[in-house]
Amino acid sequence: MPADLRERYARMRRLTERLCEPLAVEDFVVQSMPDASPTRWHLAHTTWFFERFALARWQSDRPFDPVYESLFNSYYNSVGEPFPRARRGLLTRPTVAQVFEYRHAVDQRMDRLLGDLGHADGQEAGAVVELGINHEQQHQELILTDIKHAFSCNPQLPAYRQLPTPAAGSSSPSNDWSGYDGGVVEIGHAGASFAFDNERPRHRQLLQPFEIQNRLVTSGEFLEFVNDGGYRRPELWLSLGWSMVRDEGWEAPLYWIMRDGDWHQFSLGGLHRLNPDEPACHVSFFEADAFARWSGARLPTEGEWEHAAAGAALRGSFVESERYHPAVADGERGMTQLYGEAWQWTASPYTPYPGYMAPPGALGEYNGKFMCNQYVLRGGSCVTPTEHMRATYRNFFPPETRWQFAGIRLARDPRK
Ligand SMILES: [Fe+2]
Repeated sequence: MPADLRERYARMRRLTERLCEPLAVEDFVVQSMPDASPTRWHLAHTTWFFERFALARWQSDRPFDPVYESLFNSYYNSVGEPFPRARRGLLTRPTVAQVFEYRHAVDQRMDRLLGDLGHADGQEAGAVVELGINHEQQHQELILTDIKHAFSCNPQLPAYRQLPTPAAGSSSPSNDWSGYDGGVVEIGHAGASFAFDNERPRHRQLLQPFEIQNRLVTSGEFLEFVNDGGYRRPELWLSLGWSMVRDEGWEAPLYWIMRDGDWHQFSLGGLHRLNPDEPACHVSFFEADAFARWSGARLPTEGEWEHAAAGAALRGSFVESERYHPAVADGERGMTQLYGEAWQWTASPYTPYPGYMAPPGALGEYNGKFMCNQYVLRGGSCVTPTEHMRATYRNFFPPETRWQFAGIRLARDPRK
């Protein structure tokens, strides 16, 4: 087992609780929609993951509370019947305080496990703990994403925290493109370092020549689409996307609010005037796709994105920056904003790579069974933990999803 795992586990768990510090007890229990979960549930579910998949296997202690086995199981049908996702907000017990007790009890047991494990089981246990750490990092992002949605439902539009204001004079650089020759390239994760199963195996893909934007699409650019009637022109939309526009009354990205004749944007810092230089965020795949069509471009495939990102430094605003909002591009030349800021929708459906095999057992349910009706996003966001991100990382959401910190980077075929 890697020697630093014990320390990394403890550090990761502390970050989760630090993210909760600005919350009042009432904030922990609310569920604003079926897709979002209460903070309290995230705190308990991530703890359950370690208890169920590490402690139950390598320690003989009884479960903290057998009822939690169902209450905090998300979707692992092979270990029991999960409590219905859409009803997580109806649970007033265990209390928030009891969930923190549960976390700390499991932390003590995990510390013992991580300190005691002999070499025989060490490697397998280490892999499960590593998965648990990465799993909780995904939920750290969801805690902020979900509480933002919950706060947005409150007419007072409360702030999670006071956020730093952008430096005066910061403005996005001009919209340049980088060109790539394509050909047979390799994508996907290889080697012993951690990656989710859905990032493997590394394999070859044939890319046509392509160009890709050097930065994310800005709110100002997206506003031009809005002002050009983008949400009222069916020819720009995929059929399912147009149905969403009609059925849901979409007129702008989620969290854009018109006040006194000006567009404002709700963020984790509260309501502020829309900054046209910031990356556009909280758009669905359908909106990203319609914007691309309006721009005479398209979304990149995930192979194009990963090829363009290969070798690039992992730079950008992640959760540790405590910005909690996508930052304006810093004016550097070349490919920027690959990581952090806002997830980037790709044109690629979330499907298994050639040769993919879901792992055996309950943990095989982690990724593989969701490879249907979703699209891949790349790059991470301003609420993703830094060490969670890498070039091969594949996030995935249904195409109508808007509450995620998701934005747009365009691609296009080279001009003849
Ligand atoms: Fe989970």
